Amino acid sequence: MIGKLNHVAIAVNDITAAASVYRDTLGATVTEAIDLPEHGVTTVFIELPNTKIELLQMLGEGSPIERFIEKNPAGGIHHICYEVDDIAQAISKLKSDGATVLGDGEPKIGAHGKPVIFLHPKDFCGTLIELEQV
Ligand code: CO
Repeated sequence: MIGKLNHVAIAVNDITAAASVYRDTLGATVTEAIDLPEHGVTTVFIELPNTKIELLQMLGEGSPIERFIEKNPAGGIHHICYEVDDIAQAISKLKSDGATVLGDGEPKIGAHGKPVIFLHPKDFCGTLIELEQV
């Protein structure tokens, strides 16, 4: 069902400093920071030859990464995103297998303008998983 690794997301306290580490120290191609108020995060993408790294910083009240940053003040890997061809089919298979789809279980439009869902870490080796329909 899952296809390519679309991105690995790292939650950070200071996205400017984190982007500088990737651009200046690691020599990667780094996009400008974009505020996504509807998602409660500011994002920067690191473009690698085979995948992307998504840096996430809290934006506004009630950000979905607030608790993660409280528990991991230095930042850390927040989720990994796999591509799927058909997100509706993926959701129905996952639900029938007993996996927990977060939120209301319906796809939302994610940071790339494509439908995404998140899956509870308890079902997937302790890792928060995002599925994105490509
Ligand atoms: Co993501």
